[in-house]
Amino acid sequence: MPVTMVRKELRIGYDEYTSVEEMSAEDRALCRAAVEALEGAYAPYSHFHVGAAVRLSDGTLVKGANQENAAYPSGLCAERTAMFAAGAAHPDQDMVSIAVAARQDGRLCSEPAAPCGACRQVMAQYQTKSGKPMSVILVGANRILKFARVDDILPLIFDSI
Ligand code: THU
Repeated sequence: MPVTMVRKELRIGYDEYTSVEEMSAEDRALCRAAVEALEGAYAPYSHFHVGAAVRLSDGTLVKGANQENAAYPSGLCAERTAMFAAGAAHPDQDMVSIAVAARQDGRLCSEPAAPCGACRQVMAQYQTKSGKPMSVILVGANRILKFARVDDILPLIFDSI
């Protein structure tokens, strides 16, 4: 039998910044909004505060923060809280970018907060809905990562059947 198997590799590129000052004014404002959104976190169980901010195509910024619940799975991550708030209040706007920040023990985490798989899947869906790339910015005190599209943090996206 002929061997047709080929080994392939995926390459993911992203921009790494050491300070928000290096970013565009738009991205800077979105990062700031994600940090401000931390104030809305309700995390009596994990004490891990996460803030997210979504930029819409008309420039509106929508914030969200993690909301925990005594029935643990009933809680929701910051990213989905922000995206669902944006989707519900502005159904005709595209989500062009999302920024995420996390705080523990009262300090912004030094490393960027990485969204969970479920949040990545929801980002993917809103990106598909808009038909344009949604950038993802992960804010840490030491470094900030910017991914140009959701595919870069969720390769081989499940889209629809
Ligand atoms: N969390 C988020 O809000 N976003 C993430 O991407 C990962 C985790 C929240 C969920 C929970 O309230 C807390 O962080 C600890 O997992």
